[in-house]
Formats: sequence, C-alpha cells, structure tokens
Amino acid sequence: MAKRKLQRYSELADLENVIELEDYSPTTISPLKGRWCERIFGNENPLVLELACGKGDYTLSLAKRYPNKNFIGIDIKGDRIWRGAVAAHHDQLDNVRFLRIYIDYVTNYFAADEVDEIWITFPDPYLGTKKINKRLTSPFFLKKYREVLKRGAFVHLKTDSPELFEYTTEVIEQEQLEVDFLVEDVHNHYHEQPDLDILTYYERMHLADNRVIRYVRFRP
Ligand SMILES: C[S@@+](CC[C@H](N)C(=O)[O-])C[C@H]1O[C@@H](n2cnc3c(N)ncnc32)[C@H](O)[C@@H]1O
Repeated sequence: MAKRKLQRYSELADLENVIELEDYSPTTISPLKGRWCERIFGNENPLVLELACGKGDYTLSLAKRYPNKNFIGIDIKGDRIWRGAVAAHHDQLDNVRFLRIYIDYVTNYFAADEVDEIWITFPDPYLGTKKINKRLTSPFFLKKYREVLKRGAFVHLKTDSPELFEYTTEVIEQEQLEVDFLVEDVHNHYHEQPDLDILTYYERMHLADNRVIRYVRFRP
C-alpha cells in the first residue's frame, strides 16, 4: 500500500467520528446495533446511511442541509473515509460518522427499523453475471436493507452505469417494489427533486466524461 494511504489508515484510529471493526468476522454483532442514535449521536433523530460513500460527499452535504438528521457514511476503503471524516471534523458536523465495514454485514450493525433512509452513490456496477450478488441493488443486498429500514423508507440510487440502472429497475419490477421517482438524466432532464444537485467525487469525473447520471428512489 502506498505510504500516504498507510498514513491515513493509521490516522483513522484517532478520528473520533470513525468507527472501525475490531474484527472482520461475518458473525460479529456490533454492540452499537440498535443504539446508534442513543449511544453515538445522543438524540432520537432520523438515521440516514450512505453506502459505498467513498469520500462521503453525500454524507457531508446532506448533514449540512439536514442538521436534525444523523448520517453515517459506510465504505470499506479507509483512505477514502479518512477524507470525509477529516472534512466532517473541520466543519464541526456533529451529526456525521463514518463506519468502515463491508456493506455485506450491514445487518450486524443496524437493527430492524433503525434506519430511515439509504443512499447508494455510484456503486461499482460489478458487470458480469458471476458478480451479481456484489451489486448493491441485488436482491441479496435489498433483503438486508429491508431488515434495517423502517417501513416505507426509501433507497436512493445514483449511478453513471446504464447496466446497473437497468439491472436495478429489473430487480424493482421482479420484486414488485414501489418506485417513488426515477430520472434517466439527472443533470439534463427537468425535475424538482431535492439533493440531486450534490455531486460526488466519482460523479464529477463521470460528468467530465459526458456520462449520463441516472437516479431512482424506491421502497425496498
Ligand atoms: C466507485 S466508488 C464510489 C465512491 C463515492 N460514492 C463517490 O461517488 O465518489 C465505490 C465505493 O464502493 C465501495 N464498496 C464497494 N463494495 C463495497 C462493499 N461490499 N462494502 C463496502 N464498501 C464497498 C468501494 O470501496 C468504493 O469506495
């Protein structure tokens, strides 16, 4: 691993707004499960997760817009989380935390009905049928989200991948899920949806490449 990355990984332990795994066993149940708002945020505000958060652009921007909600950015890459955590500390965002885990084990960390909303921002599309279960909108993951989300809560997906978007809409249809809003070209089609103006690190790169950004909000 590059020296700078290693440095950031070692600094993560000292950042108070980062929660890392003590061990990576799939069977480890977090003591924070069901108690995030009470133990970590000290309030009963709604809890929003950003999955595959990378540098946490949505987590940071939404936290500034909605100070009465709690936000947790989740990713496995520590050097990316480091950036978001340092920015949150700098901006004194008390309603932000970052959690370095595999999203695959999200149900070990959050209890039934604990989560109010999930954003999935520019996840890896994992093209190829062998990797289907790695896609963050596969039935494998949707089942897990359903376990932690409140009834009627939304999952938001923003992606540059037409393949992942098409796959997701197929899953939504197959599972007979309710789509609340869908836009095929976020930045060029007229809509009045809030928060789609927030740009992530990857989104900026995709826009520079003239890629089309798609968005769907649904109840899993
Ligand atoms: C293409 S990046 C997008 C980052 C950020 N959302 C953005 O738009 O700039 C995808 C991120 O998903 C994370 N990721 C993919 N699968 C994951 C998993 N199963 N658990 C945790 N993180 C995962 C990767 O570590 C990576 O940071």
